[in-house]
Amino acid sequence: MHDLKKYIADLTNSIQKSLDSIDSLTACHTFHTQFLGKKGSIPALNDMLKECTIEIKRKLGPIIQKLRAETEIALNNKIHFWTIKEQDAAVEKNSFFDVTLEKNIVAKGSMHLLSLVTHELEEIFISMGFAVCKGPEVEKSFYNFEALNIPKDHPARDAHDTFWLDGYPDLLLRTHTSNAQIHTMQAQQPPLAIVSTGRVFRNEATDASHDFMFMQIEALLVDKQVSLAHLSYTIQTMLRNFFGNETLTIRMRPGYFPFVEPGLEVDASCPFCTTGCSMCKGTCWIELGGAGLVHPKVLQACSIADTIYNGFALGFGISRLALLKYNIPDVRLLYTPKIPFLSQFNTLNR
Ligand code: PHE
Repeated sequence: MHDLKKYIADLTNSIQKSLDSIDSLTACHTFHTQFLGKKGSIPALNDMLKECTIEIKRKLGPIIQKLRAETEIALNNKIHFWTIKEQDAAVEKNSFFDVTLEKNIVAKGSMHLLSLVTHELEEIFISMGFAVCKGPEVEKSFYNFEALNIPKDHPARDAHDTFWLDGYPDLLLRTHTSNAQIHTMQAQQPPLAIVSTGRVFRNEATDASHDFMFMQIEALLVDKQVSLAHLSYTIQTMLRNFFGNETLTIRMRPGYFPFVEPGLEVDASCPFCTTGCSMCKGTCWIELGGAGLVHPKVLQACSIADTIYNGFALGFGISRLALLKYNIPDVRLLYTPKIPFLSQFNTLNR
């Protein structure tokens, strides 16, 4: 009896020591096997007790039961504690994110192809002395139409299927970047040279080469004695730089835009071929957009003396230029978040 009592006391001590030294879920498991499992020390006590007299059983039985119950509770607490602790550690390990370590970066972000092309074009114009400016996308009819010599009921409005804003009879989504011309000329007297890029909107059905939203680049130069030669040289310089093709030439055809006179449609010699290809549909020429010498009425609308000054303007589709330069078959690809498609152009990021 005395021996067993002492044994229980020693066991209680070593159980406490073992409990205190538990430092993981694995250690909890080992502890369970050692003390509470089938072959553990506490069940072994019961076997020892079986050999004892009734009197000893009565005395030591409850002590053993108590030891067992307390050990189980203590172990459960340890299991609870270490489960949470190890989960926290796992979460912390996975969520630790040091932005300065390159290996932590799963996928690098990059500029969208259209942004890249836009910046590239802007830089070409900056190198020619043009200033970059932006025009608003939500616009008053005056800036999109009237000041550009497109009065109400003018048939040219039919070519601009306009999104009007519900409840705001005078507000629309601009149909071209030419609104930037008016904002610039209202704010500043000549000489001036600006380039303005951005989104424009037309209420049209979409297909591989048309979208209801696309991007344009607009350039405007107002000074004295500006001629078509200046315009032609500017367009040629822009395109030669953009396509990296020194032999590229441009062709101008008469075209009608109410805000320029004369008005021109501008084509570039196909940057991909000399004999006709699928990009130029066998014609060796690619349509880029409109241009011309600023109409005197537009200068007048902006209080610029049209007897002293004149200028040129051009407006090209940026999406068009991007499609051509990077051989992209469908304009809609540029406006959908398809990472495999977009990430092809990551290397273009500087
Ligand atoms: N704004 C015209 C368009 O979107 C293009 C253009 C710009 C034409 C400047 C002439 C001069 O169709």
